[in-house]
Amino acid sequence: MTTTDLPAQPTGTDLPERVRRFPWPFPADRYRYSANVEPAARTVTTTAGAWGERLVDVDADHHHELAAREQVLRADPSRCAVLAHMVPATWDAMLFLMREMSSGYPASFALRRLDDGSWHWRNDLLGLEQRFVVGNASTLPADPLRYIGAQVQEDLVLLDQREDALWADAALVTSAADWSVNFDVGMSFLQIHGPVPRVHEEGVVPRAQQFLLRLQPGEPYRRTNWTMTVDRRLDTATETYPQWGPDRSRLTAADVGRRLHLRVEVQHLLRLPDSGCILFLIRTHLLSLAEIAAVPAWRRQLASVLAELPQDMVDYKGLTRFRDMAVTWLQADSPQ
Ligand code: HEM
Repeated sequence: MTTTDLPAQPTGTDLPERVRRFPWPFPADRYRYSANVEPAARTVTTTAGAWGERLVDVDADHHHELAAREQVLRADPSRCAVLAHMVPATWDAMLFLMREMSSGYPASFALRRLDDGSWHWRNDLLGLEQRFVVGNASTLPADPLRYIGAQVQEDLVLLDQREDALWADAALVTSAADWSVNFDVGMSFLQIHGPVPRVHEEGVVPRAQQFLLRLQPGEPYRRTNWTMTVDRRLDTATETYPQWGPDRSRLTAADVGRRLHLRVEVQHLLRLPDSGCILFLIRTHLLSLAEIAAVPAWRRQLASVLAELPQDMVDYKGLTRFRDMAVTWLQADSPQ
């Protein structure tokens, strides 16, 4: 990122950038599921700083996260899946993201329409230049979703709207929080949310679907979701469970502050202008308990949320083995 693209930082604080820009997900000391959607691209001020200025966010972890994504995709190409009828939507999504990136970070990205109707894309962060014709696959080095997915930190899901329902028919996801994109592609919005406790009887998921069915182009929304992860690991897909699952039981009181992370997803929801499909962007942020403890109000609030969280939500989120240890650590007078 060039200096001119850097977000304005709150002054008078020596907290690290990762803490200052962290999307704190808790409005209160008690947490329950809700549709919790709000208009996107509006800055939210937190106790430690601010976040939320842009839909596509480039931060200090950009190169590291893109390299990690490539590694996951090389090891398991099924993390990117596009059903045949979604190809036009992948071009639509790619153009949308390029426009967002060039308006959000004009010193790093530029998208230009040429006189002959083709497009020119420049990504100075990765040293890329590409001229392409929308709909002509031979003008890109990879499929559109795969091409743009290698240039954004966000996970990408495309939902088709038909029969008054939404279907997740294309996706590139390398940071799934304990789910499988390969399993979910082709499933409906309601089916995908099948394993989530409470949300069906409380009407959260049907209400969210009604909201999404009415979403208009040019009116992006966002929401946050959270869970917890051991270490700074983005790929916690079902497929790689043997690599990360056992760490949940290996945490100790001595290393929980350093190793256990609050994992927050900033999710954007928007209707694409040409295909009419919904683009769902998932951006994952990780902050360790030790980093959270640098903000006393956050430390107290996370302790309260975790201590009060009902057991079915604890189990679904995979916190069962360490919830009590985390609460004890956060409630200690001087957590180490
Ligand atoms: C999980 C709500 C949009 C895919 C969840 C969870 C909630 C939720 C409450 C449980 C999260 C947790 O405890 O960690 C919503 C709401 C939405 C929305 C209110 C919109 C307003 C979407 C969209 C997709 C999606 C557009 C894209 C297909 C998923 C997946 C999971 C999930 C894959 C994990 C399910 C599993 O455990 O297998 N969602 N969601 N969500 N959501 Fe959504």
